[in-house]
Amino acid sequence: MKDCWKAEFATRFRRHEDELKWLYSELYHSNEKAYESFTDMLYRCWEERPESLRRLDREREECPGWYRRHDLTGMQMYVDAFAGTLQGVRKKLDYIADCGIGCLHLMPLLESPVDRSDGGYAVSDFRRVQPELGTMEDLRALTEDCHGQGIAVCLDFVMNHTSEDHEWAKRARAGEKEYRDRYFFYDNWEIPNAYEQTVPQVFPATAPGNFTWCPEAGKVVMTTFHPYQWDLNYMNPAVFNDMTDNLLNLCNHGVDLIRLDAVPYIWKALGTTCRNLPQVHTLVRMIRMACETVCPGTLLLGEIVMEPDQVAPYFGTVDKPECHLLYNVTTMATLWHTVATKDARLLAHQTEQLFCLPREFTFLNYLRCHDDIGWGLDYGFLRRFGQEEIPHKKFLNDYLTGKWENSPARSELYNDDPRLGDARLCGTTASLCGVEAARESGDAAAMSKALRLDAMLHAFMFTLSGMPVLYSGDEIARENDNSYHDDPLKQADSRYLHRGRMDWEKAEKRKKKTTAEGRVFAAIRKMEKIRAAHVAFDPEGDTWLLDTRNPHVLCIGRYRLGEQLLALFNFGEEPQTVQLGDGKSYTDLISGKEGDAMAVKVGAGDFRWLLHQF
Ligand code: GLC
Repeated sequence: MKDCWKAEFATRFRRHEDELKWLYSELYHSNEKAYESFTDMLYRCWEERPESLRRLDREREECPGWYRRHDLTGMQMYVDAFAGTLQGVRKKLDYIADCGIGCLHLMPLLESPVDRSDGGYAVSDFRRVQPELGTMEDLRALTEDCHGQGIAVCLDFVMNHTSEDHEWAKRARAGEKEYRDRYFFYDNWEIPNAYEQTVPQVFPATAPGNFTWCPEAGKVVMTTFHPYQWDLNYMNPAVFNDMTDNLLNLCNHGVDLIRLDAVPYIWKALGTTCRNLPQVHTLVRMIRMACETVCPGTLLLGEIVMEPDQVAPYFGTVDKPECHLLYNVTTMATLWHTVATKDARLLAHQTEQLFCLPREFTFLNYLRCHDDIGWGLDYGFLRRFGQEEIPHKKFLNDYLTGKWENSPARSELYNDDPRLGDARLCGTTASLCGVEAARESGDAAAMSKALRLDAMLHAFMFTLSGMPVLYSGDEIARENDNSYHDDPLKQADSRYLHRGRMDWEKAEKRKKKTTAEGRVFAAIRKMEKIRAAHVAFDPEGDTWLLDTRNPHVLCIGRYRLGEQLLALFNFGEEPQTVQLGDGKSYTDLISGKEGDAMAVKVGAGDFRWLLHQF
């Protein structure tokens, strides 16, 4: 604590000082010098923070749950695919507002080598926007425009690695010790091979192994993801200090939500899986305290694509929180399992577990994102029904790629690892729901069925507590983009199947109620408005699962301040009637019709939102 620090910063710093110093000293062996430059850096970042953002910080400090409002919907998009440049996005803010969006997640936009970028996840300069997309000033202008319209902006912070073209990597390659120490270098393959004994692979087919030979350095370097993504060594406090500085610099450009990319991977130790190690939590907690001190209006979104019991710990505890938001990855994967199997029991089980978590734990709910769908399902539960992991994954992949008889789904495999039988899956929501197949065959009934399923999945997402996030294009039923097969820079990565360009002619069709685009768009907008209008959707409410005694139908109850919602989802191929035996009067929020909930009918692949007001 320094006397010259201004009161606002000092007050916030004091709140965390003891814990921050304790954690930092423990991790970095009481390195006083490094700690001092860390805290000096925090103060500098606070001083650099524009007054307009400091005002926003103060407002949000008064209203810390601002991101948990039930009228908030997010959207995730690529700047280039959506509008070419950051300036282009500014010009399209009306469309974003038309979609009812209050939080915009822009995919990685910092400088990254075009031919080795992993979709922008190999950053070569954390202080520079990819020139084709614009400048840091454009980013600031966009966040200002967004704030003017009440839209928060989310950006990735790729902290596990840098591009091999990053200045640090270049200097490390040239032999500068200070920079070598920022990565993991080995003289020979002995230690790397020892790591390989226990560390799984992220891209077993497209980028096997966790290390790469660097001929210029004459050494082996750790590359958990692609060979051109060099893992940063967070055992070195200079790495943590400088990366936190980079993160805060983004916040000072108006970024409200920082997506901590691949965060479980940031600490490595021989003999472990190098995933979710305790030190990762120390680092995230310190980042949280840094943000609460410098820019308390900022949120942390953790990207933890792991089994459920690995995910929730990233919320930290209520006293010592880590991330504000986490991806609800298990529910997303389980939902697609349910689409394929038509059996909602695993989804019910999974949803019930979610309901047991503290209400403060806020999930980001989504159907699709820029990545593949990995089958991280609860196989312990599925085994009770005789379903084994490998054949079950095969079934899901066969069904959803449309190989299975009568399956209307269209998608492609991702990182098919024949040794493990572990392929993942790529495709857009609409194509997975059957929109693409129905359009190709011109079958109107199949189209209606596909659009119904698409809407039902969105309804499920909107029913859950947390922040629902649309994947750009889903609002107009965007289909798979097969053109990536012809692009030499993309063809090896099937995730580009669902990363196609925004088709603005197709977007225009959303205005016509009879088109597929118009039907999906209207359904989503209607649900957003209903969700915003009813306190039953508030995350502070009670949530529970009702026993439908029907494996195809899942029923969620929500209650808050005199409103009770019953949400029913029928994943089966036939209409179902569920005996809930509830004689109260309910309004169907979609059709507006009144009735009781004694025996509730739900159409095939359809849903009901029934509201009772006490
Ligand atoms: C995250 C991103 C993914 C990327 C990886 C490596 O998982 O979502 O797209 O490939 O990090 O940075």
